[in-house]
Amino acid sequence: MQLSPLQSRLAASVVASCLVLAIYFLMFSPQFAFAAELSTTPLDAFQNGWTAALEEAPTIGDGDSGETKRTTEEITPREPIMYKPDFGLFDRSLLGRAPSGVVALANNAPKNTQIDPGTLSAFVFEAKSVFNSRDGEGSNTNRLELRGDAPAAAQGSPDGAEGSGDGDSFSEIERRESPTKTLWISANTCIQPERKADQTTLDPPQLTLYVSTASDNTSPGPMADKKKQDVRVFNEGAVMYNTTLRGDVYFTIAGPPNVAAGDFDTKTYNVNIAASIDKCYYAYDADSEPNVFWVDSDSGATLMASGVLPPVDQDSSLDKPPYTMFVFEAGDMAMNGVRNSYCGLKEYSLIGGTRSRVPKDTMVSRLVKRGTESVTKQEFFLSGLNASTKYTAVLASDPNAMSKGKRDDNIPGGGGFVFRQTGFETSQTGGSCFLIQNLEFCDQTQYRVPGNLKTFPNATALGKYYDSYAQEMYKNFDKALQQVQCDAENTGKYSLARNCDDCKQAYKNWLCTVSIPRCEEFSNNAPWLQMRNINAPFLNESSKMDQNITQTYGNQKAFNSSRLARIDEDVQPGPYKEVLPCDYLCYDIVQSCASSMGFSCPLPGKLGFNTSYGVLNENNTVNNTDVTCNYPGSAHYKNAASVLVSLTWVLWVGLLGGTLSVII
Ligand SMILES: *[C@@H]1O[C@H](CO)[C@@H](O)[C@H](O)[C@H]1NC(C)=O
Ligand SMILES: *[C@@H]1O[C@H](CO)[C@@H](O)[C@H](O)[C@H]1NC(C)=O
Ligand SMILES: *[C@@H]1O[C@H](CO)[C@@H](O)[C@H](O)[C@H]1NC(C)=O
Repeated sequence: MQLSPLQSRLAASVVASCLVLAIYFLMFSPQFAFAAELSTTPLDAFQNGWTAALEEAPTIGDGDSGETKRTTEEITPREPIMYKPDFGLFDRSLLGRAPSGVVALANNAPKNTQIDPGTLSAFVFEAKSVFNSRDGEGSNTNRLELRGDAPAAAQGSPDGAEGSGDGDSFSEIERRESPTKTLWISANTCIQPERKADQTTLDPPQLTLYVSTASDNTSPGPMADKKKQDVRVFNEGAVMYNTTLRGDVYFTIAGPPNVAAGDFDTKTYNVNIAASIDKCYYAYDADSEPNVFWVDSDSGATLMASGVLPPVDQDSSLDKPPYTMFVFEAGDMAMNGVRNSYCGLKEYSLIGGTRSRVPKDTMVSRLVKRGTESVTKQEFFLSGLNASTKYTAVLASDPNAMSKGKRDDNIPGGGGFVFRQTGFETSQTGGSCFLIQNLEFCDQTQYRVPGNLKTFPNATALGKYYDSYAQEMYKNFDKALQQVQCDAENTGKYSLARNCDDCKQAYKNWLCTVSIPRCEEFSNNAPWLQMRNINAPFLNESSKMDQNITQTYGNQKAFNSSRLARIDEDVQPGPYKEVLPCDYLCYDIVQSCASSMGFSCPLPGKLGFNTSYGVLNENNTVNNTDVTCNYPGSAHYKNAASVLVSLTWVLWVGLLGGTLSVII
């Protein structure tokens, strides 16, 4: 509706008068006095702050139309940034529909809005927008016409779905017939006030969501009746709210009353908001599993892997990685306040963030099938990291991957899902251990191995060196296996329970683990680590070997060399420590392969066991990320499946131990 200059002047003064009235009521209503007395909770303080902000605000109350005009010019009509007069003072019938300046949100259709401190952004979700289209049964109005003989039909109001129609028994019945709908309102802070370069430790204040389902509170907010609205303060830049959809739902995002000018360079917030009757459009889970695991890292690179991907429906092959990851230095203050917000993480993250200056190829993501069960996971390989640095990683489902070519708008949950944050760290420079990954043959080998930048300047070549040796060894084994009756009838087989495929797999698992030692820096004093190559000089010349160690262990082969002599000759690493292969990998071969092949394993307590094999830490707790022995696919997390397998095997071997022929 276009207003003539005279009408605008009138409107302005009506607004001004209303505000004066509103302030009058606030100042003198007993309720306000009560709230002020009890302003102990942060929310109360916040709301009182708002009251103060309104009283101080020069744009309010003086009715200067010039001021109002300035505000409205700065904004688009759909993204109102201004002090909202109390629309509740107007009769709804006078306005006829949602008050102007209130943005109507459609199902799963997000909107973006700017919010300054001391301002509100108001929205409405109209019940008829979904009761109309989704049910496919026609709106309430249509139904009323259809059953024209119903007594209520004569006075049934078109917006009967609003829930205010108390005496409307007909719509009551109808409501009971149709399943109840839930409305999810969710929002993400994309941009928040940015602190002046490290001048302050204060975090920018969070935004607040006010929701009203009451037909007599269509302008929820800090100034509205507390009893007629729900309040949710954003949690690290995200808010999720649900309510039963009975009528129109009004909601408002409020900026903080003010932001200390001395602390921040910018003051404006930018927010994505969406309403949905399907599920939360912008979701996060800050409590459950992070769903991404730290596999291993060296001084400049790290490998992370997602949890097992859920089975995908037949027709849509999983060709697009479903996740994206955001990484930043642990304690990066720029991330405070947006850690649960997809678009906030996307804006500010050091790696994966749009503002970031680190090269785009710092993080490479790929879908992989690994392990005997060939489970699909998404891996993230990061390179070019700083040494001795702790990083935080946050996995998120990627809205773009979800859309499968369609627009990501209007897809339930299309705003992304942010998982709990997790961490990893890089080691110091000058060490002996280098991360190799993505090998061709030993496809589950992804950890640090003994290396030396002088002999193998890049990790890909180092990986190839180890991998091709394992592959060669495997070929020899394969030839030997041909001699065993594998594919014979059951009577000729060496075992009913195991076949040659089991034997091959067991041998490969063992071979890749034993021929590619898992490396830890010598400075790591964890008790399960085995010292290797201790007579060699450190690659970092400032490090010196403890004389006691050299004297005690210097002439024992298990300590003064690597597991394979060729590693010391070709790679020439410095002294390092090895995470020994898990003992069950060896038992697995004995169990799976024909006894005529002559495999045997040292038993715990016997000579050679302690320097050859490690045992899985059975006291592993969920939070214990130690890798106490090496096995295919091991990572800095408790791999539930593998633990189960290993325990079964240890038990089995324990039971059968007496019958195993044991040679060292
Ligand atoms: C609705 O929100 C409450 C918390 O306010 C939560 O416990 C509940 O699980 C949510 N319901 C749904 C269906 O998401
Ligand atoms: C490495 O450190 C420098 C200096 O602190 C910093 O500017 C850069 O962003 C860091 N890079 C990574 C990938 O952490
Ligand atoms: C390691 O110890 C063995 C004796 O067990 C000895 O023969 C060999 O020379 C030593 N190697 C080095 C590099 O010190």
